[in-house]
Amino acid sequence: MDPIRFWHILNAKQFSRPSLDLIFAETDLMRAHKATTQGRILLKQILADKIICTDFYEASTRTNLSFGSAALSLGAQLLNPNDPEKFSSEVKGESFEDSIRTISRYVDLIVLRHKEIGIAERAAAVSRVPIINAGDGAGQHPTQALLDLYTIKQYRQTINGVSIAMVGDLLHSRTVNSLCYLLAKFDDVTIHFVSPPITAIKPGIKTYLEEHGVNYTDYMSLPEAIDQAEFIYMTRIQEERFSDHSDDYRLAQLAKPDFIIRQAMLPQDSYYPYIMHPLPRDSRVAELNEINYDVDNDPRAIYFDQVENGLYVRMALLKLILSAN
Ligand code: CP
Repeated sequence: MDPIRFWHILNAKQFSRPSLDLIFAETDLMRAHKATTQGRILLKQILADKIICTDFYEASTRTNLSFGSAALSLGAQLLNPNDPEKFSSEVKGESFEDSIRTISRYVDLIVLRHKEIGIAERAAAVSRVPIINAGDGAGQHPTQALLDLYTIKQYRQTINGVSIAMVGDLLHSRTVNSLCYLLAKFDDVTIHFVSPPITAIKPGIKTYLEEHGVNYTDYMSLPEAIDQAEFIYMTRIQEERFSDHSDDYRLAQLAKPDFIIRQAMLPQDSYYPYIMHPLPRDSRVAELNEINYDVDNDPRAIYFDQVENGLYVRMALLKLILSAN
């Protein structure tokens, strides 16, 4: 496999350090071009002959729309099937593989989101065109991890030596899984896992970190970790990943108040910690929002910078994959 170029994007493990450098250099260019009229006109030529399909079987705002916006910004055309779980011919008994075989005869690249872990690999095995994993259940979300890493780099210049606390539902967070894999490619990284036992990080992720020389610690208390980390990566309790009315979900909800970040918990007169979140955050009960709204106006709240960087990173990925082939 080429250490720099890539065809499918399935798992954050697949990226080499040189490929990350290439992606982030391209992301910087995309960002610069988007800032000027002349740059935006130039971008429109890059994928003018391409069609991109965003095939989303699960809910999404950011990933779906940022890939759509990225495709349109590069001049590509977009096919966005309406709720394939309900309206594709899979409801008539067609296999997922036949769906992908079919779509891959119509378009140049498929961005796939699905609730099933490992589905992107299944798609890649039968597709004629590149597959980008846009989230497979509680498995991987590699493009989110790329934009997270790019955002960390924007605020800290280098990833080597970074300390980051990951907080909340670590068991089900595909963004945490993928970010751990990317961080393991750098030196002197420290990760603090902060969660109740019921949503603790999967042992397999810890094993991977040990194999790659990453220091990690476990905390049951958020205030303890805040003082240790330059970045606090908050996550939502993923209700949709628990079985209905399960005791585990009830326990996770009971523990939630101890894993909410509020502005008053942040140190004064310090650049750190920056507060991150892949979003969405759960705002259904205001006082149980994992990032209290009073954090939003703190200059260290960078979760909407992540949202914006998602557009530039995904533009870079589409260009790198499609303009090389
Ligand atoms: N971060 C993320 O994947 O958000 P969406 O579910 O809105 O795409």
